[in-house]
Amino acid sequence: RPALSMHAVDGLVLEDVPLNAIADALGTPTWVMSAGTLRARYRRLAAALEATGRPVSIHFAVKANDHLAVLRVLAAEGAGADVVSGGELRRAMMAGIPAGRIVFSGVGKTPDEMRLALRAGIGQINVESAEELELLSAVARAEGIDAPIALRINPDVDAGTHAKITTGLATNKFGIPYDRAADLYAHAAGLPGIRPVGLAMHIGSQITRMQPYRTAYAKLADLVRTIRSRGLAVDVLDCGGGLGISYRDETEGAPEALAAAIHAELGSLGTRLAIEPGRWLAGPAGVLLSTVILRKRGYDGMPPFLVLDAAMNDLMRPSLYDAWHGIVPLSAAGAVAPTEQVHVVGPVCESGDTFGHDRTLPHMEAGSRLALLDCGAYGMVMSSTYNARPLAAQVMVDGSRWAVIRERQEIEDLWAADRIPEWAGASLA
Ligand code: LLP
Repeated sequence: RPALSMHAVDGLVLEDVPLNAIADALGTPTWVMSAGTLRARYRRLAAALEATGRPVSIHFAVKANDHLAVLRVLAAEGAGADVVSGGELRRAMMAGIPAGRIVFSGVGKTPDEMRLALRAGIGQINVESAEELELLSAVARAEGIDAPIALRINPDVDAGTHAKITTGLATNKFGIPYDRAADLYAHAAGLPGIRPVGLAMHIGSQITRMQPYRTAYAKLADLVRTIRSRGLAVDVLDCGGGLGISYRDETEGAPEALAAAIHAELGSLGTRLAIEPGRWLAGPAGVLLSTVILRKRGYDGMPPFLVLDAAMNDLMRPSLYDAWHGIVPLSAAGAVAPTEQVHVVGPVCESGDTFGHDRTLPHMEAGSRLALLDCGAYGMVMSSTYNARPLAAQVMVDGSRWAVIRERQEIEDLWAADRIPEWAGASLA
């Protein structure tokens, strides 16, 4: 997290921008993304992959952060995209990522989404089932366009991560069962409208150990040999995303180690290679700024509650996965040694609306500001308007510049699309 630093006068600074200046101008809750961090992380990942001597393309997993400015910064570095819906496909193209560098993943693509992708000239569609393959063949035939596809394989390997973000087990809905993959590939090669180009795999997210990758890639390599032994070509291997970051005390997944695993297990097969990272690129680049609404005394002998103006509707990860996010005061006075234990909560009417239990923090009270760290991936994108709370504003920082990249949602926008049928009742007004 080198982009964040604490200054005696300015308090917490992201790149060269004091975060208090942003909060003064826009209020809170506000998301802030660091363009410099995105670029630095992209370059480190690209360099690690390049060092193996075999080109590996990087398709940013748009689901992690789909803001056009974020996508543009990564596109300018050379990133392609991994998308999972027609909406993400449109976003990636709007941001300037050429369709040919976009991969379409996901277990349930609709015929409309398939048509959109084919007409745009999508680079690759990762097919996740035999059923989807038939559907795509029908759509592609009707469009008169050959669909370049990879089969996503479910290797039945445990990624060793949170159950809700593990995707490569036999019990998960993702991918094609390993033993059926070679037959399905051969079948695909004979289907009208389908042009098999390779195989894909994604075993889960927030993976910090390399062994699951190694095991999965070794199985992938075996499958390539089996398919080739039947006289079929496998030209592309999509190695998925999942590289983890350090939220608390985990060891961050090292790009160099991932590159080495890819190279060792798959490097000699002579295919083109690709990965689909989301969190590793974007997570550490974002923070969520919030203000303490009030400090609420608890039962005697229990920690007080700091009630924030940010809530689970903004950052859902703690309530959904019991995820841990760092919490840091914005003011320099807050940089003094942590002195007390508090529960940090939001104002939403659920006990799950908690950002941290028993956190040891410097003294904070109503009006104190703080930053929730590592929110650049799966933060804003998972926000909702639950409790009729408008979506927070978004800012991008780049060196000493900053700009609003999304206005705070207006309250009126919350019901702008609501319609009241005449029979719902007469207005009492
Ligand atoms: N490729 C595919 C096919 C995926 O399903 C995912 C993430 C990725 C790539 C990117 O994975 P990453 O590099 O970001 O780990 N909302 C959860 C994470 C869900 C991940 C879903 N799939 C969270 O906040 O932890």
